[in-house]
Amino acid sequence: MSKVASIEKIAAGDNSTLAFDVERVRADFPILRQEVYGRPLVYLDSAASAQKPRQVIDAMSQAYETTYANVHRGVHWMSQKTTDAFEAGREKVAGFLNAGSADEIVFTRNATEAFNLMASSFSRANLGSGDEVVISAMEHHANIVPWQMVRDRLGIVLRIAPIDDAGNFLLDEFEALLGPRTKLVALTHVSNALGTVVPVKQVIEKAHARNIPVLLDGCQATPHFAVDVRALDVDFYIFTGHKVYGPSGIGVLYGKSEHLNALPPYQGGGDMISSVTFEKSTFKAPPHRFEAGTPPIVEVIGLGAAIDYLGALGQDNIAAHEAGLRAYAEERLARVPNVRLVGTAREKASIVSFVMDNAHPHDIGTIVDRAGIAVRTGHHCTQPLMDRLGVAATARASLGLYNTRGEVDSLATALESVSEIFG
Ligand code: ALA
Repeated sequence: MSKVASIEKIAAGDNSTLAFDVERVRADFPILRQEVYGRPLVYLDSAASAQKPRQVIDAMSQAYETTYANVHRGVHWMSQKTTDAFEAGREKVAGFLNAGSADEIVFTRNATEAFNLMASSFSRANLGSGDEVVISAMEHHANIVPWQMVRDRLGIVLRIAPIDDAGNFLLDEFEALLGPRTKLVALTHVSNALGTVVPVKQVIEKAHARNIPVLLDGCQATPHFAVDVRALDVDFYIFTGHKVYGPSGIGVLYGKSEHLNALPPYQGGGDMISSVTFEKSTFKAPPHRFEAGTPPIVEVIGLGAAIDYLGALGQDNIAAHEAGLRAYAEERLARVPNVRLVGTAREKASIVSFVMDNAHPHDIGTIVDRAGIAVRTGHHCTQPLMDRLGVAATARASLGLYNTRGEVDSLATALESVSEIFG
């Protein structure tokens, strides 16, 4: 199939005949042709931010070159066109999550802003001194710090659902934390540092049995497998554009209509109001109530293109490709002398964290970088998790839809050099 034909099929949302072929997929990503220090780029840091296919880059360039204007504000042709494209992006996100309505999709500037929106609006509507929010030991700082700010403002209590040493979420211990003062469960769907997939269906059932709503952090789930918010019956779901092969600068908060309708605005400003006088302002219905100011216009269009792209490849095909790759990577890296995997939970997405005897993760990252290999090193914005596991930091290879076994071999070879250097 020619590239043009493939793009046309993607644009038409037709995924019927596009089988997953990693070399063809790689050809869609211009940056993967780069060399780093004279070596072919091996990009194993997609959990931090994924690379962008040509289809996303083109959609955004085309928007800037042909129809760009502000949205929801103009009667003129350009503004109408851009508003249509922007709202079409909202429909695509709704389809991506299988939301009941595009009105349940709120755009933010990133996932962190979505968490802050939730912490601010949900706490004003629902939380008071002594109320409890349950998070887990695996949360990203973005799902810890905003709740700590609420705690310090209102006197709420944060309860921490534990994990075992392998990084498995402990369902019974989680359930034991739920009580009459629990007002929200806010958990990661997939751990960004370990790759653990949390049994969210059971979590939601247990919380709902006590009428407790659930917020999930889907930042590391959405790049790897299809998420159906209605099948999960989750109340709120957050993800970010730049990890699903879309642009940075765009985050998403899904909320069931009945929940969003009950929440006060987060930020005030233009576009989120129905009327303003100096005495009083009234607010629009969701989602616009939560979208003050000029939104990330072209970023939404780019996110829509990324969702089309994932749909054309087939999310089940991506998941199958990555599952094979992760199994290979874990087996291959475990054979490198001095490597110890960190995070070996039963259910995992394609994130492989590890440490090495005698070599600090930053040294590992620096040495493999010289071989053209990009991994993330550090605490991965999960310092409490690092404390729980008794490590200061890890090196993390996160595998995306464009990665290959050959790239895993390159990492393993580079780590063998690290092992030799540090003994
Ligand atoms: N949360 C992103 C990561 O895990 C930045 O790397």
